[in-house]
Amino acid sequence: MTARRFVPSGPLTGRIRVPGDKSISHRALMFGALAVGRSRISGLLEGEDVLATAAALRAMGAVIERNGEDWVVDGAGVGTLLQPEQALEMGNSGTSTRLLMGLVASHGITAAFIGDASLSKRPMERVIDPLSLMGATCTPSPGGTLPLVMEGMQPAVPITYRLPVASAQVKSAVLLAGLNTPGTTTVVEPVPTRDHTERMLRGFGVDVQVEETDGEKRISVTGPVDMTPCDIVVPGDPSSAAFFAVAASVVPGSDLVIENVGLNPTRNGIFRVLEQMGASIDYLDEREIGGEPVADLRVRHAELKGVEVDPAIAPSMIDEFPVLFVAAAMAEGTTVTSGLEELRVKESDRLSAMAAALDVAGARVEERGDGLVIRGSGGKPITGGGVVTTHLDHRIAMSMAVAGLASKQGVELDSTEPIATSFPNFIDLLQEAAR
Ligand code: S3P
Repeated sequence: MTARRFVPSGPLTGRIRVPGDKSISHRALMFGALAVGRSRISGLLEGEDVLATAAALRAMGAVIERNGEDWVVDGAGVGTLLQPEQALEMGNSGTSTRLLMGLVASHGITAAFIGDASLSKRPMERVIDPLSLMGATCTPSPGGTLPLVMEGMQPAVPITYRLPVASAQVKSAVLLAGLNTPGTTTVVEPVPTRDHTERMLRGFGVDVQVEETDGEKRISVTGPVDMTPCDIVVPGDPSSAAFFAVAASVVPGSDLVIENVGLNPTRNGIFRVLEQMGASIDYLDEREIGGEPVADLRVRHAELKGVEVDPAIAPSMIDEFPVLFVAAAMAEGTTVTSGLEELRVKESDRLSAMAAALDVAGARVEERGDGLVIRGSGGKPITGGGVVTTHLDHRIAMSMAVAGLASKQGVELDSTEPIATSFPNFIDLLQEAAR
């Protein structure tokens, strides 16, 4: 493990560009593998999670190659996935695992899924339940976790499934299984979650029906579908941009432009909450790229104030709470968060991991069952010092690196390795911006 101390920095200035969106990158590879012919992807995130998806798709017959700056995927069509010869190595990636389980479920193949210690603790029943209703047979480890074996059913049975948890991964797993299932598969989504699957499937020629009644969405696909290849441009990941937006907000004198940030309304909650806290964010050159809204964000240092975060906004910033907690630790007044039980089953238990990490770094934090309450430092640097345990969780690592920038003594991470899962050049960009 490579430990590293992140020390107080000068202002963050200049222009940076964060890597491609992780959620969109996974989907671009998967859908390319299901289309008949060649899809091109530019701006693909080359992080470990996305590379795990690429390797698994190759093991099931897709041809995926880097071609200069772009990636090309040669797919053979829905229904053509081959049985992998070895277990699919999912590393740290819940998205790869759950979405690929959906794909395997409606193909006549059997695949084993394995992952690292973090992924092997995460609940998979949430996808096993609906995929079993569709006819797949899944044998997980005790507790419903990886390693597991998924035996697909072809033809599978279409279902209408109401999501018991607000999860884009579960929604997507069922819809992806539906692509090769004769008849109409419907997911009922009481609380909106990221809609990249729906948007991108349309780009690949799939007729995705979305009906909205009383705030609920009914999302349907009628299979088996034919998918046409598509050229995808992946926008910058708002979840990665969030670390820099918070860093620029809390380090005095900062004035940073983060270019090409995806601002899908199902993903941009962090920026809305930061603005409620008093952050200075300008949206420059708003445009659309690859069917997703995008802008360059100019973020300047500002005095942040504590807020009560509306739990209804949580799905649109579900991965950004760790870094929001860091912003709250530097704000004036108290920030209260609630309704965040899902954070306990991410790459780590992010409520307890962040409570412990912020405590080590000298912030005042109280852990509750469904959220954290943080009393801010009033704009002053937190003390820092101590070693933070990152629990194989990239977002804990990057959030606490940002905390180190606005601390007196710096913050040491026990390991920087997890960062490579989603943001391999994070440290380089941080050094570039804080130079
Ligand atoms: C993702 C959905 C979210 C998110 C994850 C990526 C996706 O997970 O936390 O990082 O790409 O669909 P849940 O669906 O479990 O909330």
